[in-house]
Amino acid sequence: MTTCVCPGSYDPVTLGHLDVVERARGLFDEVVVAVLHNPGKAGAFGVDERVGLLEASLAGRDGVRVVEFGGRLLVDVCRELGVAHVVKGLRSAADYTYELPMALMNRHLSGLETVFVTADPRFQHVSSSLVKQVSAYGGDVTGLVPDVVRDALAQRRDDDAGR
Ligand code: PNS
Repeated sequence: MTTCVCPGSYDPVTLGHLDVVERARGLFDEVVVAVLHNPGKAGAFGVDERVGLLEASLAGRDGVRVVEFGGRLLVDVCRELGVAHVVKGLRSAADYTYELPMALMNRHLSGLETVFVTADPRFQHVSSSLVKQVSAYGGDVTGLVPDVVRDALAQRRDDDAGR
């Protein structure tokens, strides 16, 4: 049984993330979607909410589970799971520049290998931060995020407007 980890902050999950998870599942028997803390990003959604949105978005997918690991090192999480590969998506050269040092550091720390899949062009412009911004200003993010995430973003916008 082969397993990989798809790590991320998933704040919130997008259809681009789901495409990467699906394609990772095509390469491995099992995919652990690991929700981790990114010290470089202030979270918009709480961790429980991110996990809930991921679980709702991935419901019914065989061989995929969502686990929250809080503020731990990815290499420690993978060691604990007995996993030697992480899978991440690359949308652009900017993503490569962002991902490369992390992949090299993880390999340096524990030999953890990073497998990159190229983003589907349908989702090349899709990021968690952009969909949050578009939705916050009243734009429609249908087709960029799962419907459950679109609705959660709309709820946040309405809540913020009511404050
Ligand atoms: O979706 P993101 O925010 O690009 O994911 C980045 C994430 C969460 C995978 C990365 O910040 C991470 O691995 N965090 C866990 C802490 C860690 O291991 N840091 C060292 C990375 S070399």
